Amino acid sequence: MNQKTEEIIAPHGGHLVQRVATPEEKQEFLDQAERLPRVRLSERSLSDLVTIAIGGFSPLAGFMDSDDYESVVREMRLANGLPWSIPITLPVSEEIADTLTEGKWVRLDDPNGRFVGVLELTQKYSYNKAHEAINVYRTDDTNHPGVKALYEQGSMYLAGPVWLLEREPHPQFPDYQIDPAESRRLFRERGWKTIVGFQTRNPIHRAHEYIQKCALEVVDGLFLHPLVGVTKSDDIPADVRMRCYEIMIDKYFPKDRVIMAINPASMRYAGPREAIFHALVRKNYGCTHFIVGRDHAGVGDYYGTFDAQKIFDEFDPQELGITPMRFEHAFYCTITKQMATVKTSPSTPEQRIHFSGTKVREMLRRGELPPPEFSRPEVAAELASAMQQK
Ligand code: ADX
Repeated sequence: MNQKTEEIIAPHGGHLVQRVATPEEKQEFLDQAERLPRVRLSERSLSDLVTIAIGGFSPLAGFMDSDDYESVVREMRLANGLPWSIPITLPVSEEIADTLTEGKWVRLDDPNGRFVGVLELTQKYSYNKAHEAINVYRTDDTNHPGVKALYEQGSMYLAGPVWLLEREPHPQFPDYQIDPAESRRLFRERGWKTIVGFQTRNPIHRAHEYIQKCALEVVDGLFLHPLVGVTKSDDIPADVRMRCYEIMIDKYFPKDRVIMAINPASMRYAGPREAIFHALVRKNYGCTHFIVGRDHAGVGDYYGTFDAQKIFDEFDPQELGITPMRFEHAFYCTITKQMATVKTSPSTPEQRIHFSGTKVREMLRRGELPPPEFSRPEVAAELASAMQQK
């Protein structure tokens, strides 16, 4: 392998999965389209299909069969032992499952009924929702948005390899649609050897910026990777979040050290298990490091503040292959007049400025701007204007 083609970090499981149909395969699928039984995908399953196809979920080439599923739910490993913490499954109702035959192709339609992919159905199986909820989400409380989605979905899973008919530009963010093969190419082109990935589902605030920049002090590049798949209804919409990031990159980041791309996946809110999953997905995009801060991918009080960091200790670092960069709760310290954490600030809790996402949304609804210690003024203004347009 010469210097140019050498991989920064191998994809999870060794090679990058590509399941976008070739022109010949696509034609073959189109010729059969009318004769194939159909499954209409939810928005969540569609984002899983897309992420599988572009290699984001490597080594998965399709939806999990019952062996992989059971092993992931119980052990956080695929049946072959490779770490994997979140089931990637295709739920359908029993009525739909009854119309499908194992060993045959199934046509996958998007939520609007458009033909988008094909599943080679290798298995259909029932599963236990409470068992999945307790293991993956650590709760079976249906107030938890991930558990709620699980309890609302069909009771059968369909398994098998998939093909995405075509990789279409993202309707809202085509310029930021950078798939794993491309992000890897960009990292190589820039000569970055170490890259830290940042997962986010919220508008950027100063604590985010602080931990991103602390991480960037010790690696070559920052890969900002906001999630744009389904989030819970009170989360700030992806277009607003993306505009906030554009403003920030333009004014407050060195452009030659940052690449922003969209992550098409949906949020599960599975806290610790999702942190492992988020890290593995970013490894597939070519990241060598991954930021895990306070209550990563958490919701409400379901997880301890640093559970999503502790879970990394349950794995041998070699088998994960991507290094977590753990951060304490960051805030603005009124004593040192800068962003800090308890590791770097002498402040007492009353001397710190930080707001929860819920608090910020309440402020914005009342027409108040979050203060500059919490949010850059340009971002606060963007959030306020988005709130007014609602
Ligand atoms: S998440 O659901 O995607 O984790 P969010 O977008 O708020 O939510 O967080 C993105 C990343 O920043 C996560 O790793 C999270 O732990 C971290 N983070 C968010 N706020 C803080 C904070 N105040 N201090 C430290 N880490 C934080």
